[in-house]
Amino acid sequence: MVPDEIWPREVIVAGGKAYANCAFCHGFGAMSSGTIPDLRRSPLLLTKAGWQSIVIGGALESKGMPNFSGTLNAEAAEAIRAWVAQRAAQLRDDESK
Ligand code: HEC
Repeated sequence: MVPDEIWPREVIVAGGKAYANCAFCHGFGAMSSGTIPDLRRSPLLLTKAGWQSIVIGGALESKGMPNFSGTLNAEAAEAIRAWVAQRAAQLRDDESK
């Protein structure tokens, strides 16, 4: 799912780095292979509030998605969303070929 928003290049780059916190479970390059959601296809990617409630709000902690509030601030969580959004746009383009 691809958000309509546009982020500055430097935010996306920062998000790509901060994604290191997520790769172990969600896959390198955000390509998830197994039972853990592929973030590029997640509807949660579409809203900042929904994304933040999970990544730094701990909304899915009981299901194995860690709460990153101790590691990431809201800005970093949003930068990761920007980077995953770019990956999602790429996926959409690849699939429409
Ligand atoms: C220890 C493994 C682990 C790590 C590390 C991890 N996640 Fe997750 N994440 C999960 C699991 C498991 C779920 C699925 C929870 C469920 O069943 O709803 C999930 C779900 C999510 C969802 C909801 C997706 C959806 O469509 O339901 C988002 C958004 C998310 N993770 C973002 C992140 C981000 C961003 C990072 C890095 C900052 C991250 N996760 C790091 C395990 C992890």
